[in-house]
This record gives sequence, structure tokens and C-alpha cells, in this order.
Amino acid sequence: CGIVGVISAKPVQKILINGLQKLEYRGYDSAGIFVNSARNGQHVVKTVGKIAALKAQLTPAVEGTMGIGHTRWATNGAPTDANAHPQYSADERFYLVHNGVITNAAALKDQYLTGVPFKSQTDTEVVVQLVAKFVADEGLTPAAAFYKTLNLLQGSYAFVLADAEDPNTLYAAKNKSPLLVGIGEGAYYVGSDAMAMIDQTKQFKALQDGDVVIMHQDELTITDLAGDFVHRDTFTANIDASEISKGTYPYYMLKEIDEQPAVMRRIVDAYLPADGSVTVSADLLTALDQADRLYIVAAGTSYHAGLVGSYLFEQVAGLPTEVHLASEFGYHMPLLSAHPFFLLLSQSGETADSREVLVNVKKQGYPVLTMTNTAGSTLSREADYTMLLHAGPEIAVASTKAYTAQIAVQAVLAKALGLHRNLTAAKALNLRHELSLAAAGMQTLMDEKDQIKNLVGQYFPNQAHAFYIGRGEDYPLSLEAALKLKEVSYVHTEGFAAGELKHGTIALIEEDTPVLAFITDDATAAHTRSNLQETEARGAHTMTIVSEHLAQPTDNIVLPDVAPLLSALVGIVPAQLIAYYAALGKGLDVDKPRNLAKSVTVE
Ligand code: G6P
Repeated sequence: CGIVGVISAKPVQKILINGLQKLEYRGYDSAGIFVNSARNGQHVVKTVGKIAALKAQLTPAVEGTMGIGHTRWATNGAPTDANAHPQYSADERFYLVHNGVITNAAALKDQYLTGVPFKSQTDTEVVVQLVAKFVADEGLTPAAAFYKTLNLLQGSYAFVLADAEDPNTLYAAKNKSPLLVGIGEGAYYVGSDAMAMIDQTKQFKALQDGDVVIMHQDELTITDLAGDFVHRDTFTANIDASEISKGTYPYYMLKEIDEQPAVMRRIVDAYLPADGSVTVSADLLTALDQADRLYIVAAGTSYHAGLVGSYLFEQVAGLPTEVHLASEFGYHMPLLSAHPFFLLLSQSGETADSREVLVNVKKQGYPVLTMTNTAGSTLSREADYTMLLHAGPEIAVASTKAYTAQIAVQAVLAKALGLHRNLTAAKALNLRHELSLAAAGMQTLMDEKDQIKNLVGQYFPNQAHAFYIGRGEDYPLSLEAALKLKEVSYVHTEGFAAGELKHGTIALIEEDTPVLAFITDDATAAHTRSNLQETEARGAHTMTIVSEHLAQPTDNIVLPDVAPLLSALVGIVPAQLIAYYAALGKGLDVDKPRNLAKSVTVE
């Protein structure tokens, strides 16, 4: 979920809506705002659907100089108008927006709120009712009631609280979920990320876990949960908001697939000077060189990029590497090596599962590098080292250019470490040249996108299920290809190790089930071809996606040859296009698939 709040001398409704639009990547199943106006009374407007649906309900405008807003990715309670935020107290005095999950909400409700009428199934309503109760029944000030409530809570939260009786105050608090305060002229802003406020200010304070904020139009106070003042440095965010336009593309997803060659070139410019060296911080290399094992931890597409990266770190840098899902690793850590080093991969730098891992491993004193697309994100701020992906803002929920950027930047680090260790494999990999070659290969595939569009028409007229298969690096590539197809087109797709399909899952192959095989690995090309034939013999409608040097006349899609360790960079492009055209063919909202969020900010 994304939250925003403003307290100003000027009307705030537009600022709230603009902020929420920027935060839609954090969820978009329902949205709402509360605006307080001395002239017109109090207003809360909420609705199921995206920010556009909320906007449609705001004519005439809801005026006021203080307000809060929320865009939701449902956790507790289905996406309904009643469960949308702001949640408010039964006396309709306090209004609250929340990103996170309060794990002891049910117990608190039983203990303190028997007899109080509830409108929603949310944990958030429990919190706002508690504040109202402590004010009404115990005579506490709103601030005191807020502190008291916060001290009872378990779980994660970023909150902004408004009191309808006091238009000159906003309250906010943070634990685990991100929250920043923006400092304007005669105005304060608060939001889940800097981008949500960047049109108003470039000056921010990043809050830390346990921080409580009280904002008036001309005064900002930050304390800990006990009420003792804390100091948070102000920083200037240099974000270029101009890159977020869709231009002439019908969808961001297609624009972002198309941008991949340019992203490869940007990564070359950022990290790989012409003299063959690699621009990576010496401190980072020294720390990494001391590690006996690399632990890559990530979620979703970033996890898949990490699986590809593990081959690079082992083969180019000689560093044993394990790849883990953040949601598992956070609570079930394997037995670690003596000198572990952690690499957190995260496009957004905001994924709650990954952040939990970061907090845990930092507590144990281990070094952490974040590779992220988002400078100034939570994971970047809290890690020891950051390497940026340079992919530019990724707006479509299905990740495309961040995936290929993550593979390329991992290759940069593997090469840098390999050179630092004087390894032959690293010296032999001319990464500057290979990434340029990959960029050209991606471009060739993009230029042939009409051919892929045609194939989609033939293979996915109405399919409910599909498989991608591959061996070696083509296996993690299959996982990512399958994720792309299922998340945007809703075709149930599995990625499989080609040799493993016959050990059970082949039972699912029926007449015309699409089975798509990646064949880029010399050692196993023939094996994968046999596995594909095994499915064809059982009725599958097979498709081959094959590296040029292994291609046969009957193959469907030919991938320009690149360095074997980088084959996923070109291999993924047809799969991204297949997913895009399959979704487009069904008339779906390609950029905002159902049930998803670009960045999942709850564990
Ligand atoms: C969400 C997105 C995925 C993304 C994953 C990890 O589930 O829908 O596209 O891969 O989060 O996000 P991150 O920002 O940490 O890479």
C-alpha cells in the first residue's frame, strides 16, 4: 500500500491525488482520501479500483488544507469500499491511513473495544478506534492517545492520522514500513516514498523504525515511542520525474521491454570504462573478497535474476553462491558459512520481505550490498553498499528491464571481483563488448516483434495452461518467462527444469498445451530437444527459442548469440513479448494486472 499526507496553507486535494498516482505501484485495488476543510466540513471519499476511479468521484473538488490518502493492496479484508482507507473511528473524529499489518489487532479489539461498532474487516480500523477510545474515555489528548496506541501495537506500520477537529495537526509513525517527511514552504508532506512528494519538495527526512511525527503547518516534531525528541537529517532527493511518461507506447510494459538495449548501454557507461577496468567501489570489493560465500536474497523477478547471477559469481569470480527467497530466508535462515556476504536484489528497494532479511543480517553484523533501481530507497539507505541498476523508472507491474539490468549489474560485480582476484575467467570476459552485443541482440528481437505477435495468436488462442522448460541457465530463465506470462495474461504457466518434467508433471500435458523450450546451452541442447519431443508425443504444441549457433531450420525463435553466461539477457525478450501480446490479445490491463502490486510492502 502507499500512503500520503499534507498539511499546508493551500488546498491539498490535488497534491494528495498526484501523490497517490505516483504510489500506485504499491497497490491499486482501492483508494481513498480524507480532506479537512474549515469551510466545508470533513470529507472522506473512498472507492474500489484504481486512483482514476477515485479521481472520478472528486468533482466537485473536496477542498481543504490538510489531508491524507491511501492506495491499497489488500491484506486484511477484501478490496471493498468499506475496507479501503482512510479508516475512521465510530465517532468520525479520527481518520487513519496505514501501510503494513498489525498482528495483534484481534487481541486488542477484544481487550479494549467490545461494544464499539466496526465498519470494516481491517486491522487499521482497530488502531483508529483505539485512538478515539483513549481520547473519549480516558480524556487523553490526541497525541497522547496516539503514543499510547502505538505502544500497544505489534507488527508493521506506516501511519498518517488526522483529527477532524484539528486541521492544523497531522500525526505519523513508522515501524518497518517506509515513511518519509517532505519539507515544503509553509507546508509539510509525508509519504511512502519521495517520488510521491517530489512535485512539491526535494527536501526530505527519512524516518526510522519507532519514529513518531507531529506536524503543524509551520512546525515538525519527531520523537521516539517514549516521546523523547530524535534528530533526523534532511537530505535532497535528485529524482528525475520526466522519465515516467509513456510517450507513444500503448503500455509501459512494451516501452520498458523496448528500453532494454538502452539500459544495457547505460550500464556499460556507468560501470565499464573503455580501458577494460570496472568502476566498483574498492571498499565493496575488499569486503566481498573476504567472503567465503555469497547469499543472494530477493523476491519475484529479482529472485529469478539472482538465480542467473549465481552462475556469474561462481564462474567469473570463483565465489560460491546461494540464492534464496526473501520471504523464506527472513525467518528460516540456513546454516551460514563462516564469512557470509549478502546481496539483496530489489528493483524498488522497498519489498518488505527483503527488508526483513536486511534488518536481520545487519543485526548479526554481516556486510550487505543492495542492487536496486531506486536511489534513496529503504534497502539502499540501510545497506552498507549500493549498486544502482540504471534502468530508469519501471512503471509496469511486470518487471522487464529491471530483470535484465539486474543480470547485467551482477555480471559487472562478478567481473570486478574476478579481476580483483586475478582470475582468468574474469580477464577473458570482455563484459563491455558482451553487453553491447547483448544490447544489439535485444534490438534484433524487438525489431521482429510482429513475428512473435503472430506466434502468440497461434499458440495462445485460448489456453488455460502452458510450460516453459530449459536446462542449466535456461531453467531460471524458464521460471522468469513463466512468471511473466502468468502475471499479465493469467495463463497458468510453470517454468520447469526440462529433464524434470517427465518425473510427474508431464501428466498435465494435453492436446495443444503450449510447451516452450529455451535451448542456449551447448552441453544440454540435445537433451532439451528430446524432452520437448516427449511432450509433443503427448499432444503438446511445442515452441523452440534457440541460440543462433544451435538453431535448426524448424526452430521458431532464433536468439542472437551472446556470451553463454549472459544468454538470459536475450532469451527473456521473446518471453516478455509473448506475455505482453497474450495479455493484449485478451484485452487485459497489461500494466496493472489483477491482484498484484509493483512493490509488496507487507511481509
Ligand atoms: C512484486 C512485483 C514483482 C517483483 C517483486 C519484487 O511482487 O510484482 O514484479 O519482482 O515484487 O520486487 P522488488 O522491487 O524487490 O524487485
